[in-house]
Amino acid sequence: MSDTPAPLSQAVHNPTTRHAIFIVATLNAGAGAAETVRGWCEDVAALVRTVGTRSPQENLSCVCAFGSRAWDTLFGSPRPAALHPFREFGSGERTAAATPGDLLLHIRADSMDLCFELATLLRNRLGDAVTVVDEVQGFRYFDRRAIIGFVDGTENPEGREAVDFTVIGDEDAEFAGGSYVLVQKYLHDMTAWNSLTVESQEGIIGRHKLSNVELDDDIKPSSSHSALTTLEENGQEVKILRDNMPFGRPGAGEFGTYFIGYARSPAPIEQMLENMFVGRPPGNYDRLLDYSRAITGGLFFVPSADLLESLASRAPSAGEAAVAPASAGSAA
Ligand code: HEM
Repeated sequence: MSDTPAPLSQAVHNPTTRHAIFIVATLNAGAGAAETVRGWCEDVAALVRTVGTRSPQENLSCVCAFGSRAWDTLFGSPRPAALHPFREFGSGERTAAATPGDLLLHIRADSMDLCFELATLLRNRLGDAVTVVDEVQGFRYFDRRAIIGFVDGTENPEGREAVDFTVIGDEDAEFAGGSYVLVQKYLHDMTAWNSLTVESQEGIIGRHKLSNVELDDDIKPSSSHSALTTLEENGQEVKILRDNMPFGRPGAGEFGTYFIGYARSPAPIEQMLENMFVGRPPGNYDRLLDYSRAITGGLFFVPSADLLESLASRAPSAGEAAVAPASAGSAA
């Protein structure tokens, strides 16, 4: 038995908080930009401590993750075995589309001042090495309801199960302690959604709206969101860990859900997207998508906390750097 302790994960499993900031950035071209981002990796944990210590009861945390092309440009090989650009699903109005993104920051705390301060410090230290392409401030809405009025996050795995479903182990030993994370920003047509009866909405989600109790199997539609996102492999349920947040600007008529899902492989999250956008079987798609549009999509690798810190000294070799694509504006 080896004495080396298992690598420590980043704050993937931290409990859900009242606030979050999601930042997606692209890496600017040039060796200097890559060097800045690598050096920054070493500073993240210290900056979280710097801000979080001032109010420990508010559970400040940050998860940093890298897109596929950015990984090659920044760190070269070895690369996480299952990391690839975001795969698109569906077509036309109902498309899970890929949008540019090389770096994802998932900042959480029970007060927005901590999230805001940390986001500012992390972003300032990145300087002109990156271009921020999306930034969302999410908030908890009543008793953990999504903006569409249903409690969100109920079926998340907890404790040991949450770790087993999200942390890479022996299947990719060099990246053990890491995870994959998929994000999508959704906008909802709340006028159309609110014109449905509560019973119709419950059929679309698969749960009762007020009580959050799951619909009985004999009345739950196979097209319901909860049915299409329930996966089984060899008789066992395969789960992912979500911490979606509502966001919006009522004055501008914007109402959204920032979806974030962690898993130890992109495969289960992609299967859920296929079930939702294409349908299971094809055509039996998620009716929530008749009222919701995904306007961003990115897949990222979350290095373990230990690996994140050591990435500062991991540049691609000269040969790799020569072939690595300039990733400004690249899809994740
Ligand atoms: C369940 C909302 C997108 C995966 C749920 C539930 C709600 C909800 C209200 C029921 C309670 C719960 O268990 O959390 C939303 C909204 C979305 C969205 C508003 C954005 C429009 C997604 C996406 C995925 C996903 C994109 C995966 C790719 C799941 C899973 C469950 C779930 C795995 C639990 C299913 C179960 O075991 O019953 N979602 N969701 N959701 N959702 Fe979503």
